[in-house]
Amino acid sequence: MRVTIFGAGYVGLVTGACLAQMGNQVVCLDVDTGKVARLQAGDVPIHEPGLDKLIRANAAAKRLSFTTDAAAAVAHGKLIFIGVGTPPEEDGSADLQHVLAAARTIGQHMQDFKVVVDKSTVPVGTADRVRDAIAQSLRERGLALEFAVASNPEFLKEGAAVADFMKPDRIVIGAEDERAILLLRNLYAPFNRNHERVQLMDTRSAELTKYAANAMLATRISFMNEMALLAERVGADIEMVRRGIGSDPRIGTHFLYAGAGYGGSCFPKDVKALIHSGALQGVDLGVLRAVEAANERQKLVLVDKVLARLGADLTGRHLAVWGLAFKPNTDDMREAPARVVVRELLARGATLCAHDPVAMDEARRVFGAQAGLSYAASPEAALEGADALLILTEWATFRSPDFDLFKTALRQALVFDGRNLFDPRLLHLLGIEYHAIGRAAPAPLTVS
Ligand code: UDX
Repeated sequence: MRVTIFGAGYVGLVTGACLAQMGNQVVCLDVDTGKVARLQAGDVPIHEPGLDKLIRANAAAKRLSFTTDAAAAVAHGKLIFIGVGTPPEEDGSADLQHVLAAARTIGQHMQDFKVVVDKSTVPVGTADRVRDAIAQSLRERGLALEFAVASNPEFLKEGAAVADFMKPDRIVIGAEDERAILLLRNLYAPFNRNHERVQLMDTRSAELTKYAANAMLATRISFMNEMALLAERVGADIEMVRRGIGSDPRIGTHFLYAGAGYGGSCFPKDVKALIHSGALQGVDLGVLRAVEAANERQKLVLVDKVLARLGADLTGRHLAVWGLAFKPNTDDMREAPARVVVRELLARGATLCAHDPVAMDEARRVFGAQAGLSYAASPEAALEGADALLILTEWATFRSPDFDLFKTALRQALVFDGRNLFDPRLLHLLGIEYHAIGRAAPAPLTVS
């Protein structure tokens, strides 16, 4: 089928590449000429496992192309996805200007029936606004062409987005128009084998499903982070509690990890936007307000531990930082806890040497030329001469370090772990002072 995608960002690129891989003819449109030129040259601007290979292979097979030519892009697709950004406004609401601009562009150029599909995460009612914007543009052209608008939210995790797209656990299609439903069903048929994953619903429920999913996941994390605070105080271990509750199928084992707070492009933004939508409707989403407040506090928990141990004035202290990305397998630092932790420690007078396997270029962009912040080419090199190590992202390569280095490279064997990578009893046994999240000082290990 012929598919057009507005937006060659995270969602647009993954969607475009995966649909092309199934034989569709895909055109990705973006207003950023620099980005389009890079993509045309086979240079993929984001770090996502498997994506660059998929893009290059499908571009070579002439199933995937990139353009800034809106008229040609709109003419191309029977199905037109809108996958542009919806950044948060000052008040937390989603900024729909890019979505509505895409809708107007479609209305300005379409010549025949189109199915327009909202892929971006957008507040309930946006499909109606997209419909109105297209209709308005058509009226301005004196045309009354038919079109349908559907909602098809994505549930892609960064770092696993290609795999998530290829093997979805559900495909939510919010649509009322029969042509839209049948075309989208056909588009997703290759991803819907073995058992039925398509969940057909009205557009409003589809729009709310996306927000509710992310808000539920964020709620689990903030809940566990709160339990972790309590666990430390009462001498319990959150990792034991996590296992203890996760074995109940009603709770489940996923997304129960206490840590340095959730970040990324979705949870913080979507929780804020949902709170805002609730307020607009006169519904106080108090649970989500607490989820957000708990997360803001959580980003500072590791800093508080450092200050409690090393003193409020960190002047003259040098600290190693492992991990800057908001989670492993991505270079994304949007809303990353590392942003808060690094700024706070620098403000207290510390100097820092950081290492991240892929996010250091992004960190240089985010932090700019910051006095006191340097980068190391390896995790080991970051440790040299530091007073302590802070771990902010659970990269696999951090999980099995040479523990002796904590004693020889650091000035003192002191580790603050925001991701609970190690068994506190092991580090205790090795003579390393270890401060994790929600884990009280370990009881002596009884070796039988
Ligand atoms: C999320 C959703 O998972 C995805 O379905 C949606 O489409 C977009 O938002 P993503 O932002 O890529 O995806 O990351 P995810 O793996 O969900 O992690 C989000 C944040 O929560 C990270 O900062 C992560 O470190 C944190 N997290 C996750 C925890 O602190 N504890 C957990 O148990 C799980």
